[in-house]
Amino acid sequence: MAAQIISGTEISKKIREELVNEIETLKQQHNITPGLAAVLVGEDAASKVYVGQKEKACRKLGIDSYRRDLPGDTSEADLLALVAELNKDPRVHGILVQLPLPKHISAERVIYAIDPDKDVDCFHPVNVGKMMIGKARFLPCTPHGIMELLRRSEIPTEGKHAVVVGRSNIVGKPIANLMLQPHPGGNATVTVCHTGSRDLVTYTRMADILIVAVGRPRAITADMVKEGVVVIDVGVNRIGKTPEGKPILAGDVDFDAVREKAAAITPVPGGVGPMTITMLMKNTLKAAKGSL
Ligand SMILES: NC(=O)c1ccc[n+]([C@@H]2O[C@H](COP(=O)([O-])OP(=O)(O)OC[C@H]3O[C@@H](n4cnc5c(N)ncnc54)[C@H](OP(=O)(O)O)[C@@H]3O)[C@@H](O)[C@H]2O)c1
Repeated sequence: MAAQIISGTEISKKIREELVNEIETLKQQHNITPGLAAVLVGEDAASKVYVGQKEKACRKLGIDSYRRDLPGDTSEADLLALVAELNKDPRVHGILVQLPLPKHISAERVIYAIDPDKDVDCFHPVNVGKMMIGKARFLPCTPHGIMELLRRSEIPTEGKHAVVVGRSNIVGKPIANLMLQPHPGGNATVTVCHTGSRDLVTYTRMADILIVAVGRPRAITADMVKEGVVVIDVGVNRIGKTPEGKPILAGDVDFDAVREKAAAITPVPGGVGPMTITMLMKNTLKAAKGSL
């Protein structure tokens, strides 16, 4: 079976076109330009790339970007003071503090300090709780991106068995929660697997929709899935470098083998990845509209 390739690049492009129009309308009708503050602490190379990508996306879409780079030895108190300042700044509708933070800073305390109305990453417990009870203000970016990939690829979820491998707070738990909400695009029966799950393959083989976020290259092999499965591969693993020094990426799924059995599958790169930043832009626009 030749699997349908679910292109996050293409779907993301379409959503960004929609966002450009909505942002322009907001500017014209209300004189508001959405603003996103991105805070980077330290010199982590991958974090720098991610923040750079978010800035670039803002520029392309007409969102004002306020980047704040702080040295790696910034104290927690100073970072909390910056968050408090951004909470008050009316030009800033969304705040993201790039994780991971240096070890001497509590990411939990920093996230809790962000105004939930500006928490466009949807990591604050108030927003996590609202999502849990189906009253979300923002949806977390990567899980939201996955929901959009499924919806816009017209993949039915209602009554399907969705198996999520991974239970992190940023991917596994929220996507499991969204898939089970009783709304269109959800309403699935959900199983969540993790390192404590016995006989993982029993569950992955039962999946109609398999969502994998474990951070291990090619952890899911063809013998672990059934024919006709829809596979969403969240993993981004650096498995080497090209002669030019660019990272070679692999997902958590053995793409070439699994695509032979799957009905649909996301590639890495070009699957979930582009959707995450697009959903961050969507949340920033939503926060700006919410400020009206
Ligand atoms: N494309 C994107 O935008 C995007 C966004 C976020 C993350 N990611 C990528 O997605 C992957 C996962 O990210 P994360 O933040 O969710 O990772 P994480 O916090 O490290 O969580 C990994 C989860 O996978 C589980 N796990 C690990 N090995 C397993 C195994 N062999 N069998 C079953 N479960 C296993 C862990 O179980 P325990 O809880 O038992 O330890 C944990 O719950 C990474 O590659 C990351 O780079 C991509």
